Amino acid sequence: MRVLVAYGSKNWSTAGIADMIAEALAAEGLEAEARPADEVRAVAGYDAVVLGGALYNNRWHHAARRFARRHAAPLAGKPVWLFSSGPLDDSADRTQVPAVRQADAVRHALGAREHVTFGGCLTDQAKGFIARSIVRNGRGGDFRNPERIAEWSRKIAAELRHTAESR
Ligand SMILES: Cc1cc2nc3c(=O)[nH]c(=O)nc-3n(C[C@H](O)[C@H](O)[C@H](O)COP(=O)(O)O)c2cc1C
Repeated sequence: MRVLVAYGSKNWSTAGIADMIAEALAAEGLEAEARPADEVRAVAGYDAVVLGGALYNNRWHHAARRFARRHAAPLAGKPVWLFSSGPLDDSADRTQVPAVRQADAVRHALGAREHVTFGGCLTDQAKGFIARSIVRNGRGGDFRNPERIAEWSRKIAAELRHTAESR
């Protein structure tokens, strides 16, 4: 089984989550690769897709939205999971942070199996004045939770194995 983990990321922390997911899927015996959503030309060669986007001002990263639009037809026939990364605190670990409107619309459009929100990350390397002033004011940090990300990935692997067995 080949799984694509496609992501839209501005400051590379969502890319890091995508890498963690691909690694965890590979550890479960699946063939998985993480790629920037903008660089994916076709999804035909994949059996399943995980699509993630960073959150900025309650919007899902444009590359994730564009990917969902561009590949809507082939994705309709595949198992799809979605994630967002954003909250710069532990709220994503404590509660189920609902999908923003755009991600929820993609979930419906693609019939995705699930959407989850993971904590985000913002460091003084981030692009943009606002981002750096958030960090300067002590509200940055790395709130990604590798264990939770791996756990979600293992659940995806289990569902895919189940799908393959029942074929
Ligand atoms: C200007 C700005 C706006 C943001 N807006 C949101 C938001 O609406 N919701 C949220 O959960 N996180 C928000 N964040 C936090 C980012 O989503 C977080 O830093 C994320 O990890 C960035 O992903 P990236 O490194 O892949 O670009 C914002 C960060 C910045 C700098």
